Amino acid sequence: MKPSLALLALASIGTAAPSLQSTQDGMSKRATWPNGPFVTSGRWIHDASGQNLTYAGTNWPGHADVMIPEGLQYQSIEAIVQRVKSLGMNTVRLTFAIQMVDEIYANGGEDITIENAFVQALGQSNGTRVLNQVLAKNPQFSASTTRLQVFDAVAEELNKQQLYIHLDNHISKGMWCCSSTDGNSWWGDTYFSTSNWVRGLSYMAEHGKAWPALMSLGLRNEPRDPTNNPSLSRSSYNWQAWYGFMRRGADAVHAAHPDLLIFLSGLNFDTYLTPVVQGTALTPGNGRFNRADFAGYGDDKLVLELHNYETGIGSCGTLQGNLDRNGFQALQPGGSGVANVFPVMMTEFGFQMDDRTWRGVYASCLAQYLPARKAGWTIWVLAGSYYVRSGIQDYDESWGLLNHDWSEWRSQGYVDGALKGMVRDTLS
Ligand SMILES: *[C@@H]1O[C@H](CO)[C@@H](O)[C@H](O)[C@H]1NC(C)=O
Ligand SMILES: *[C@@H]1O[C@H](CO)[C@@H](O)[C@H](O)[C@H]1NC(C)=O
Repeated sequence: MKPSLALLALASIGTAAPSLQSTQDGMSKRATWPNGPFVTSGRWIHDASGQNLTYAGTNWPGHADVMIPEGLQYQSIEAIVQRVKSLGMNTVRLTFAIQMVDEIYANGGEDITIENAFVQALGQSNGTRVLNQVLAKNPQFSASTTRLQVFDAVAEELNKQQLYIHLDNHISKGMWCCSSTDGNSWWGDTYFSTSNWVRGLSYMAEHGKAWPALMSLGLRNEPRDPTNNPSLSRSSYNWQAWYGFMRRGADAVHAAHPDLLIFLSGLNFDTYLTPVVQGTALTPGNGRFNRADFAGYGDDKLVLELHNYETGIGSCGTLQGNLDRNGFQALQPGGSGVANVFPVMMTEFGFQMDDRTWRGVYASCLAQYLPARKAGWTIWVLAGSYYVRSGIQDYDESWGLLNHDWSEWRSQGYVDGALKGMVRDTLS
């Protein structure tokens, strides 16, 4: 259905648009996309009309060494977004590194060019070659386009094709994530400056005001024990410290861009948030999670996000039990032990993208569990390859939804046999 020109014009005014709901039946919902700001209400996310809204989408990494959204040497931004859209998805989790913002500050407020970014990360010869491939596929860019301008173009295309953006701070130093020894594990780790993190969140939240499709922001991907930094681990890797960092990050994001939903991620690679959900002590202290600590937004802007990679799990019942206990029980008001009800999303899960793994216990269990709970999700990962990962250039991603050159699905069987249905069941 095509909205009328008048509706489109009104929709672009933003705050005026939701009032159309009462006067234009049927068409108004599309015409006012994205119909934000979103808020939470108990276990639901609501759009500006008070309708339930669930995310179903995929991860598009932009946080690795080059700090530019991946895949642009192989396809145009428009073609990549069309692929995501063709699955029926409504969301992209777009990742960035704090280092990008640090370099903007170091460079007098200007981001560095994509030419410099590619050469810095891939070397003169390969960097120049890949840059030229990017420019051939995406002729709206030039060598002097900045990384942030590429993010802007991705955000603009996602808006055009009506996909919500969930912006995720994935790491501090731009590189493949995540290990317990990569210096990005925990606040205070080698590359993980808390003050730079707060500054980077503020900067991106503020910058993201220019992205109409940006609805939410994840404070930090996969907090984890800095095992190669025993003194930091002992003094700080705990729920009490976590709570202080989350409050600082959330306050910064909310101050910069009050419309955004803010996603909190848990310990041990964001695999559990049990003390938050059950309202038990944030150890080693005695304090408990309290919405009032998030002044002015604790009641309607906080969402929990969890990851799960128990790919070898033997039974769906076991996996479901683990997920509930780890935090998905927050979706069940009145559930036993649930002190704090939240929307909960699985912002990462994934597996080998071949013709068989998707039929296994793990993938088929999640394909049923997440839609049944109306838990939002973003699968890891859209990328068929990375500019560079762990020192290997043009790294093939065997978990990627897309093939190496981002031109086809890696497993058409999975896409047709499960993924599209999972999207449909989640959004229905
Ligand atoms: C959201 O979904 C729940 C469960 O289906 C339903 O009870 C509730 O009325 C819905 N809320 C709105 C505003 O549609
Ligand atoms: C440069 O790219 C080529 C072709 O992809 C690759 O074989 C080579 O290893 C790259 N050089 C470096 C230093 O990674």
